[in-house]
Amino acid sequence: GAPVEVDISGIEPGQMITVEWRGKPIWITHRTQTMLELLPKNRPRLADPDSEVTTQQPEYARNPHRSRKPEISVLVGVCTHLGCTPIYRPEIKPEDLGPHWYGGYFCTCHGSRFDLAGRVWRNQPAPTNLVVPRHMYLDEHRIVIG
Ligand code: FES
Repeated sequence: GAPVEVDISGIEPGQMITVEWRGKPIWITHRTQTMLELLPKNRPRLADPDSEVTTQQPEYARNPHRSRKPEISVLVGVCTHLGCTPIYRPEIKPEDLGPHWYGGYFCTCHGSRFDLAGRVWRNQPAPTNLVVPRHMYLDEHRIVIG
């Protein structure tokens, strides 16, 4: 599939948008400062907190926020278990997801949990972190995926 260019200037802090690339949903999430500060809290619950499974992201996204720019997350919105599309759940400790939830993506198909960097919790049906697709910035407002 051809690369997709996206203008990200309209994504509000805390908002996630979905675009399509190669027939897959791509999530672009504008994380707030609070969201970024909460990311390390997930560490004890994560299967691969340091993105050591190298197939799941390009080298430049192998960092604590799994992206080129800390506030902008780009993820393939396909669960690494059986391919459902998880839902965006940015809330902190919502009733249905419990006291250890600091925002993330929840797959309702079989219950896999991912944090706001797309990192999977331990002992989930999903074996690996969500995929970060290849992407680059053309300028401050435009990114190219693919
Ligand atoms: Fe997401 Fe099974 S497809 S948990």
